Amino acid sequence: MRDSFGRNIDYLRVSVTDRCNLRCLYCMPDGVKLKKRPEILSLEELVHICRAAVSCGVKKIKVSGGEPLLRRGLCAFIAALKNEAGADEVTLTTNGVLLEEHLPSLAKAGLNAVNVSLDALNPQIFIKTTGLGAAAGSAGFNNETLNRVVSAIFRAAGMGLNVKINCVPIEGLNESEIIPLSLLAEKTAVAVRFIELMPLGRASFYRGIPAKKVLQIINEACGPLTAFTGKLGNGPASYYSAPFWKGVIGVIPAMSRGFCETCNRLRLSADGVLSSCLSSGENVSLREELRKKPEGFGPEKEAAVKKIIQDVIYNKKAFNDFSPVYNGEKAENRKDKLMWKIGG
Ligand code: 5AD
Ligand code: SF4
Repeated sequence: MRDSFGRNIDYLRVSVTDRCNLRCLYCMPDGVKLKKRPEILSLEELVHICRAAVSCGVKKIKVSGGEPLLRRGLCAFIAALKNEAGADEVTLTTNGVLLEEHLPSLAKAGLNAVNVSLDALNPQIFIKTTGLGAAAGSAGFNNETLNRVVSAIFRAAGMGLNVKINCVPIEGLNESEIIPLSLLAEKTAVAVRFIELMPLGRASFYRGIPAKKVLQIINEACGPLTAFTGKLGNGPASYYSAPFWKGVIGVIPAMSRGFCETCNRLRLSADGVLSSCLSSGENVSLREELRKKPEGFGPEKEAAVKKIIQDVIYNKKAFNDFSPVYNGEKAENRKDKLMWKIGG
């Protein structure tokens, strides 16, 4: 379905949990207040919403979190998104820690692609960015965590899954990792993408490295980079190839360029809040509608949920607004617009 600005909204990001097994510095603070179990939608409820969204024109669904692989039954859920909800394409965003053991079932469920968040290959920097140092305190355990993520990436690529690696480069934190991470794309057919930090929640205390600078750093070390024009993914990334590389690198200029004019997405949080934009816009809870009496998901309820989805699509704003104060609220206080709640 098209919104009031003519954009075709065909992409839904679904967060299945607000829990995470990492505490990335720019994302999830320690000791955050998580939703209570009854507030979180069941996977069945999520499938109902997704089916309604598909009937409103959504074709691609991204499953995210928190860390989605912490949710029991995730592989069956992915299969249901394809078979019952009718999504053409289902992809997963994960921090990769639990990915390797789930790969065979994910592939069987029909997963089309996986995005793995990885901000560093250097163990010390990985521990720092993921908050593992503070949480676990054991270097052995932490190095193992990094090894698991890297091993999952290679295994997934080896299985022929479409793999993208997401890094958020931050000043004074993981700048030195831009080249090592890029080099993952030299011998392996993966896309390594650098995302500009968006000032959501505690990310507003850090400074992201602009896409232009990232490209300059990679170009100097590995170039000349050439624009890659093939189709890759559904998002706003621009891709580049380096001479003789199997994979590509990409940048997502979320702040410096913005891509609101071609934005095709909606987001659903694990507790059922549907939202049309990361920074602002419509926020409507579908949970009350879903749980109204009578129980179940009959045609009336389906029609009501569809109507809400259509309204959210129709009211999608033309542009985002990440200014430090928006609608009188400071960026770090926009409580429902946090990456670990809405999954990026
Ligand atoms: N700005 C940009 N990207 C972010 N991510 C998490 N928080 C932010 C932020 N504030 C990234 C994660 C993950 C992806 C879904 O979003 O690293 O890779
Ligand atoms: Fe890190 Fe992703 Fe977990 Fe946030 S949700 S803490 S970015 S792994």
